[in-house]
Amino acid sequence: MRIKSRYLSFALLLFFLYYQNLSHLTQAQPTTTGYPCSTSQAIYPCQTYVLFRALAPDFLDLASIGDLFSVSRPMIAKPSNVSNTTNPLQPDEFLFAPINCGCNLVNSTFGNISYAALNYTIRSGDTFWKVSTQDYQNLTTFYSVEVVNPTLVPTNLVIGVNAVFPIFCKCPNSTQRQNRINYLISYVFRPADNFSSLASRFGSTTQSIIDVNGNNIRPFDTVFIPVSRLPQFSQPNVSTPPPPPPPAVVSSKDDRKGAVIGLGIGLGICGLLLILVLGLWLQRDSLMKKKLLAKRKDVEKQQFDRGEKALLKDAEVSLLAEVSDYLDKYKVFGIEELREATDDFDDSLVIQGSVYKGSINGEVYAIKKMNWNAYEQLKILQKVNHGNLVKLEGFCIDPEEANCYLVYEYVENGSLHSWLHGNKNDKLNWKTRLRIAIDVANGLQYIHEHTRPQVVHKDIKSSNILLDSSMRAKIANFGLAKSGCNAITMHIVGTQGYIAPEYLTDGMVSTKMDVFSFGVVLHELISGKEAIDEEGKVLWAKVDRILEGTDDNKVRKLKEWMDYYLLKESISMESVMNVMTVAIACVSKDPLKRPSMVDIVYALCKSDDVFSDVSQEGSSPRSIVTAR
Ligand SMILES: *[C@@H]1O[C@H](CO)[C@@H](O)[C@H](O)[C@H]1NC(C)=O
Ligand SMILES: *[C@@H]1O[C@H](CO)[C@@H](O)[C@H](O)[C@H]1NC(C)=O
Ligand SMILES: *[C@@H]1O[C@H](CO)[C@@H](O)[C@H](O)[C@H]1NC(C)=O
Ligand SMILES: *[C@@H]1O[C@H](CO)[C@@H](O)[C@H](O)[C@H]1NC(C)=O
Ligand SMILES: *[C@@H]1O[C@H](CO)[C@@H](O)[C@H](O)[C@H]1NC(C)=O
Ligand SMILES: *[C@@H]1O[C@H](CO)[C@@H](O)[C@H](O)[C@H]1NC(C)=O
Ligand SMILES: *[C@@H]1O[C@H](CO)[C@@H](O)[C@H](O)[C@H]1NC(C)=O
Ligand SMILES: *[C@@H]1O[C@H](CO)[C@@H](O)[C@H](O)[C@H]1NC(C)=O
Ligand SMILES: *[C@@H]1O[C@H](CO)[C@@H](O)[C@H](O)[C@H]1NC(C)=O
Repeated sequence: MRIKSRYLSFALLLFFLYYQNLSHLTQAQPTTTGYPCSTSQAIYPCQTYVLFRALAPDFLDLASIGDLFSVSRPMIAKPSNVSNTTNPLQPDEFLFAPINCGCNLVNSTFGNISYAALNYTIRSGDTFWKVSTQDYQNLTTFYSVEVVNPTLVPTNLVIGVNAVFPIFCKCPNSTQRQNRINYLISYVFRPADNFSSLASRFGSTTQSIIDVNGNNIRPFDTVFIPVSRLPQFSQPNVSTPPPPPPPAVVSSKDDRKGAVIGLGIGLGICGLLLILVLGLWLQRDSLMKKKLLAKRKDVEKQQFDRGEKALLKDAEVSLLAEVSDYLDKYKVFGIEELREATDDFDDSLVIQGSVYKGSINGEVYAIKKMNWNAYEQLKILQKVNHGNLVKLEGFCIDPEEANCYLVYEYVENGSLHSWLHGNKNDKLNWKTRLRIAIDVANGLQYIHEHTRPQVVHKDIKSSNILLDSSMRAKIANFGLAKSGCNAITMHIVGTQGYIAPEYLTDGMVSTKMDVFSFGVVLHELISGKEAIDEEGKVLWAKVDRILEGTDDNKVRKLKEWMDYYLLKESISMESVMNVMTVAIACVSKDPLKRPSMVDIVYALCKSDDVFSDVSQEGSSPRSIVTAR
């Protein structure tokens, strides 16, 4: 899987370079994610049409095309001047499908894009690529589909989920309406097309098509053809495509940039090759899944209609099917095995909440019982693999009780929370605290920067940070984690005292919310205080003005704030001050002012160097606790 995703990133990188190059050379606007719009002129939404070709094998009848566009048969038949009983249609027959074009905010990078949001239910064998290029005939791109569906993982589509397919469209603006342009028909430019042939076919003019689309159109781009009314094609013979001529990049006043366009074609062919490679890759991916899907279908059939547990079971079946790709990576435990390991889930073996300590064949594991679908967590965990993240070893599904168990590596020394706030006799020394901070920062940097799509943990807190036998930290509990960023959630989860303010107020999920929570953990490490006190006051709000005033003043205030135990060792105040600076930056109310995990790792490592230099002559490196 990781190798595959590496190929994918590589292919995407090449794509990116290719588009960059092309747009640089020909000044074309790369239109891969959609067409920007603004709601300020109040021209959106509008009713418009796409030109759709009847296509063998799936789209030769009005019913299936109607389903694709969520409209009835007469709604397509009427504007297309075909009888609603025509069956089958001629291959390549032109049809007009009505769509409702809106101006939709995608995210802050892409801004507003005009598209018709079509609801599509993922079926067996579907990929974003396949559905956008074959079913929707390139009226959208899979980039756009990815951006519009941030919660779906393109390489891991679950059958039956709804995806939004953004069909590109535009609404005429006031100038265009004055010029009696009532529709901008969405049309996918074909290699054999040119603007003058389009103009005569649609009853438009070459110049007005250029005005709307510019003249750097590549094959399979969507173009918008301005018309005052829908053309009536005398079906079915107009569209018989000529035998494929050499692909031509069209420009009405060609030749001006002959060389540049030549280069453009060269790059275009590279691009097509890449598209092909990527297509094959996705194809292979779906083929590999097909076997599993076939198996899954049988089971699903039996389970269909089986009342209240059916849904849950379905999820488990799909969970099994999904993870069976990674069976070499995970052990699958039997429920009996886990019962034996945990003395039938005996209370004395509870580590915390529903996590039990259990030993199987001499190996100790942490076994977490989940009464809800563990699928998200598994999906995320199978993507991540890093020394500072608690490792998932295997899982178990108990079909009788509809429970799922995740089996993790056992991390010997318990949670950071118990070390800082529990009644342990030993207290962590500064060096250990700093190392823990760096470990956690490394783990977070990994999930933020090196997973695609990014993973946001959403519940970083000292009780989710575990310490192993050599007091190295590992992040645990990806139960709330979310992949795909910048989503807005209505359902607020997380832990009081650690939750970033923008998440509480707007439900805004981003990596910066982990940065915030990490800042709170840093405050705990420095002050030894809990993230939230008995009166419900949050720790991060109490830190005030420590970094203001003269140097002496700062050190004095910092010492007052610091954990009493740390003052007993001879520590470098400079190192503590550096970490304090990072901690304060992390809990800025404005997410944009918070540093990224990359910056944080760098800053913390520098503090570590400062400290190591000072304490070089110091005690044995293995000592983890301060003298009492
Ligand atoms: C983007 O779209 C949203 C609604 O989808 C709208 O509220 C906002 O004003 C639009 N922004 C611009 C710049 O048009
Ligand atoms: C076809 O359309 C006509 C009206 O245009 C309608 O009376 C007829 O029921 C339609 N037939 C079908 C099969 O939808
Ligand atoms: C898509 O379809 C499903 C079921 O057919 C429905 O529940 C959902 O609300 C639809 N979504 C949109 C955006 O229309
Ligand atoms: C969509 O575009 C791809 C190239 O990007 C092409 O291979 C494919 O044939 C197009 N699909 C249709 C239906 O024209
Ligand atoms: C917008 O979405 C794209 C694709 O999902 C993502 O790469 C990008 O970081 C997002 N930008 C913001 C500001 O959220
Ligand atoms: C456009 O294509 C038509 C055939 O479809 C051809 O006859 C015509 O010469 C082409 N025009 C240009 C400018 O390439
Ligand atoms: C309407 O769109 C056309 C073509 O994109 C553009 O030239 C014109 O300035 C626009 N008019 C207004 C009022 O925005
Ligand atoms: C609709 O198509 C028929 C042939 O199928 C043609 O005779 C008729 O003129 C067309 N209608 C219009 C308004 O062009
Ligand atoms: C359609 O066009 C083909 C050639 O392009 C011709 O042989 C055929 O007779 C035409 N059919 C009709 C119904 O006009």
